[in-house]
Amino acid sequence: MELNVIYNESCLEGLKKIPDASVDLLFTDPPYYQYRAQNMQGLKNHKDVVTEFEFDDFKSEEDYLQFLENVLAQCYRVCKPGAAGYLWCGDDFVSYLNRIIEHAGFQFRKVIHWHKTNPFPAIYTRKMYANSMELLIHFSKGSPKTWNHKPVNQMHNFIESPICMGKERSLHKTQKPLKVCIPFIEISSNPGDLILDPFIGSGTTAVAAKMLNRNYIGFEINPKFTKIADQRLNQHF
Ligand SMILES: C[S@@+](CC[C@H](N)C(=O)[O-])C[C@H]1O[C@@H](n2cnc3c(N)ncnc32)[C@H](O)[C@@H]1O
Repeated sequence: MELNVIYNESCLEGLKKIPDASVDLLFTDPPYYQYRAQNMQGLKNHKDVVTEFEFDDFKSEEDYLQFLENVLAQCYRVCKPGAAGYLWCGDDFVSYLNRIIEHAGFQFRKVIHWHKTNPFPAIYTRKMYANSMELLIHFSKGSPKTWNHKPVNQMHNFIESPICMGKERSLHKTQKPLKVCIPFIEISSNPGDLILDPFIGSGTTAVAAKMLNRNYIGFEINPKFTKIADQRLNQHF
């Protein structure tokens, strides 16, 4: 499979074309599932609980978790022994996702907390706190083969940064800032390594990989986003 390409197809199909044990680092941000918050509140309309996240087409929570289980099983197959994995999620799903990650065969290592310093504000009528945290689950296929330790004060499981803004911001609603991806990619991979992102959105993982002289393979189902990703890749370099 050709490297340094973002493929416009479902990762469930695309992952099948990647050979066993060929990926050095998995870094990904799956679509978030929103119905939980809606059910919790007994609300009928998505608009009542809208956050900055985009919505998806999953029919039920089981449907969503089964989908991720299928994707992670493929990811485990394509990762080299010792490859690290990082997966973004919200706080409502972290315990489910940890179990799915372990069920696929990976070892859970740590949850990293991203504090967004400028979150979507809490609105009085919703009676909910602002969603100012996103979580990054760190795991590995056996003992990690790469661990480029930084100074100890940069090895906390906490990172603080505003959401994507200014020139970096594309039209993708859930674009992750490079600042909250690059440090973890540096620690868990080396130049020349292959990084896989099955849900690459606006291409953040690919941009980070290119900046750090790593190779990448990305999948994105929505052609609007692959176009944005290609534009970002051309702009940056
Ligand atoms: C949370 S976003 C990723 C955002 C990305 N981290 C960024 O910085 O732009 C998840 C992405 O997964 C894509 N997606 C959803 N289902 C997919 C599938 N089956 N295969 C590939 N991509 C998919 C969505 O279109 C969305 O762009």
